[in-house]
Amino acid sequence: MTTESTTLKGVVLAGGTGSRLFPLTKVTNKHLLPVGRYPMIYHPLLRMRRAGITQIAIVTSPEHMGDVVNLLGSGHELGLDLTYRVQDQPGGIAQAVGLCENFVGDDLFCVILGDNVLADDLAEDAAIYRQQGGGARILLKEVHDPERYGVPRFEDGRIVEIIEKPADPPSNYSVTGIYFYDKQVFDFIRNLEPSRRGEFEVSDVNTAYVNASELTYGILHGWWGDAGTLEGWHEANDLARDLTYEELED
Ligand code: G1P
Repeated sequence: MTTESTTLKGVVLAGGTGSRLFPLTKVTNKHLLPVGRYPMIYHPLLRMRRAGITQIAIVTSPEHMGDVVNLLGSGHELGLDLTYRVQDQPGGIAQAVGLCENFVGDDLFCVILGDNVLADDLAEDAAIYRQQGGGARILLKEVHDPERYGVPRFEDGRIVEIIEKPADPPSNYSVTGIYFYDKQVFDFIRNLEPSRRGEFEVSDVNTAYVNASELTYGILHGWWGDAGTLEGWHEANDLARDLTYEELED
């Protein structure tokens, strides 16, 4: 698990059709809907910034690229250096990550799903991953409804498998949409098969790291939400209602 690089870049995924939030998403991208005081996508971007990650690629669909760029531009106002990638068809999270290979180069990077909203500062996990120097690190959260998410199966405290939306969850942990990867991820992605729902699943990418014995994990302590469903969006709005980011309040 070693690499020459200690630069940590960021990738924020803001593609998909937002079908689970239709008709809220009929004319806009899910990630531009409000969560608390900000557009949803500000939450992952500002969590990255606080962790010292400022070179960030945003992946979105052709339909929504214009609106996303209208909102964020070069990133200058948020103190970020943004790059954009187009995901032509909604083929899943792993496919979207795969589009960032040239952007990532030889560096390490952090992926956050654009609909993940969280209270925790990611600086400590970013530092742990920089120290780890390669492989993967994922963040988990204890939840009451793991069947909604990717779920880890543990043996002796180690993750041995990650199952996407299992009917019979093997633990009470959700794999949150916050992942740290090295460039090996692109080889793993090239070897994936589409899942039953026809997507290239991030859980299969994480399982590839498990099989290579290169996956570590941390646990989020503060609140966390996936705002990608109507229920999750309402929860995230409740949780983030009073949340502000120092970066925007100066
Ligand atoms: C995605 C991932 C899932 C993860 C979740 C976290 O699910 O596939 O593994 O637990 O994000 O937000 P989706 O929201 O696309 O259903």
